[in-house]
Amino acid sequence: EETDAQGCYVLPGLMDTHVHSRDPGATHKEDFYYSTLAAAAGGITTVFEMPNTVPPVNSAKNFHKQVQNLSEKANVDFGLWGICLGQLNLNDIQALDDAGVIGFKFFWGYAVDRNTYALIYNYKPEMENVIPPFKDGEVYQIFREVAKTGKILAIHAENNELIQTLTNEVEESGRTDYEALVEGRPDFAELTTIQTGISFAKHAGTRLHILHISSGIGADEVKNAQNRGEAITTETCPHFLFLSAEDYEDVGPQMKVYPPVKYKQDQDQLWERIDDGTISVVCSDHAPHTEAEKDGDLWSIPAGMCGVETTVPLMLNAVNEGRITLQQAVALLSENPAKQYDLYPQKGSFQPGTDADITIVDLDQSFEIKREELHSKSKVSAYDGFTGTGMPVQTIVRGKTVMKNNEFVNENQGGLVKPSRTSETIES
Ligand code: DOR
Repeated sequence: EETDAQGCYVLPGLMDTHVHSRDPGATHKEDFYYSTLAAAAGGITTVFEMPNTVPPVNSAKNFHKQVQNLSEKANVDFGLWGICLGQLNLNDIQALDDAGVIGFKFFWGYAVDRNTYALIYNYKPEMENVIPPFKDGEVYQIFREVAKTGKILAIHAENNELIQTLTNEVEESGRTDYEALVEGRPDFAELTTIQTGISFAKHAGTRLHILHISSGIGADEVKNAQNRGEAITTETCPHFLFLSAEDYEDVGPQMKVYPPVKYKQDQDQLWERIDDGTISVVCSDHAPHTEAEKDGDLWSIPAGMCGVETTVPLMLNAVNEGRITLQQAVALLSENPAKQYDLYPQKGSFQPGTDADITIVDLDQSFEIKREELHSKSKVSAYDGFTGTGMPVQTIVRGKTVMKNNEFVNENQGGLVKPSRTSETIES
């Protein structure tokens, strides 16, 4: 396929390693056809789908079912996270590894509302007693089991025992302002969960990844562990880089996510940790809810917003503003995740003339994010009205254009990607 990229930059296909498409389980919020259409529109050639679906990706059987379900709808390539449910699926971890998960995710506490948790955990009746909080011993067993696979254990670093106490206190005080939300899930909750994770990972020999890091002190802790030579990586998301608690007045409940967006000082520190390489990945945590669900008081609405379509423009705008270089953006969105999750060089690089994943970007094209124009089913975004410069103009998946100048072609081109350790890497 010939393409004219005059005046544009031709980049290795950009990736989003943190996407919740709600498929199956909550397809009224989003489904994989729409989330991957939004991905293609946003210059993303590969997404990693999160496993907290209903049913969850908790066993090899459900992994294969999910591959079948998503393959029918995939507009870009996808990898699948497996979920760790403590004792419930310790015996499934090895088989999930063999099946080809990207890595394992552990929600160290509630990140979705209790009802959704109940759905995920009660998927079989005998799961009733194991809804979090987890005991440390159980968590350590997860670390040990995942260590045997050599794959990454990615944690949502908000330990439930602590945040439950803190949020209860705030709730009893009757406060519903944004600061109260952060006080219920403060930076030190993230920090202490990271610290426990670091010591468990060190002793169990686990490759640890901290998901969506939100606090300066959390990121510093990761940096210190990296300096000691420990196997730990971390990612952050545009909402932690471009928003802070101070924006709540303007943006409103759309920006409620877990962990909550923290303060300006945290934002500044996260940029520093990007600069020094501590944070290796930027991803969206695309977590749609319906607009009706997000319309309510801050305390009771669910956490999560769309992001798979807006990450690349926001990061390119940051390049134009001189916050990072284009090389850094490519590393954060393509090369580093591809290497970290053992997909390199199939992903994260390209040889001219081969059927590679490519994202072509125009650094001079200006944009205004309009929520009603987003391609995901849900239009919940904290960036409605945000203007900037730098747009993806063409998205190419394994040699086939899927988006060009905001038009879609070759729908349903996407296939499963597996880490290179497993025999086949891409199944279409
Ligand atoms: O805000 C969030 N929403 N954070 C998470 O970690 C989970 C996600 C969801 O699935 O809604």
